[in-house]
Amino acid sequence: MKFFVDTAETAEISELASTGLLDGVTTNPSLIAKSGRKFLEVIAEICDLVPGPVSAEVAATDFSQMMREAKILRAIAPNVCIKVPLTPDGLRACHALAQDGAAVNVTLCFSAAQALLAAKAGATFVSPFIGRLDDIGQDGMALIADIVTIYRNYPAIKTEVLAASIRHPIHLIEAAKLGAHVATIPPSVIRQLYHHPLTDKGLATFVADWAKTGQTIA
Ligand code: G3P
Repeated sequence: MKFFVDTAETAEISELASTGLLDGVTTNPSLIAKSGRKFLEVIAEICDLVPGPVSAEVAATDFSQMMREAKILRAIAPNVCIKVPLTPDGLRACHALAQDGAAVNVTLCFSAAQALLAAKAGATFVSPFIGRLDDIGQDGMALIADIVTIYRNYPAIKTEVLAASIRHPIHLIEAAKLGAHVATIPPSVIRQLYHHPLTDKGLATFVADWAKTGQTIA
């Protein structure tokens, strides 16, 4: 499973990239607003930090303007992945961009029918939002299961399922068990993945016992 980080904070991205475990980055207009920085500058900086796909979302909602914005975003770096909303205009833009060789992430996917459309439009990634479905009392993980099952029925579909709106490690593990190709994870949840109390306890014991030996390795 590929790990993307869901943030526009370059300091966080730089730190995570240094672990060697980061495969890409996703941003959205809300994350850009939260960063307080200029969109195009932030995307350029992120593309320098991470060689994998960096999702940059169009701001427009109509096809023509989406295409104009996508042209500017694509010129930033070869690893920019154009993010478009799952709307008729967004899917039309997805199709046109994919035909032109661009990587496209179709976002705001909340149904299996929408995911089928994204695949037919040639999306590189489709982003079903797990947490936001859970928030309204629906089953976000059931959507991941449905999309993975449907895509597997059609080997010609190359679109990858990018599990988004992940709120905690269980979301990630369940999505991985279902075979989602990618997860985009907030930095706070990535940090949670490392920890287990028995790891901390075991390490404390090993460190204490090693000290008793009076030895050094190097
Ligand atoms: O970036 C898209 C998605 O991951 C947003 O998540 O937490 O705002 O629902 P959230």
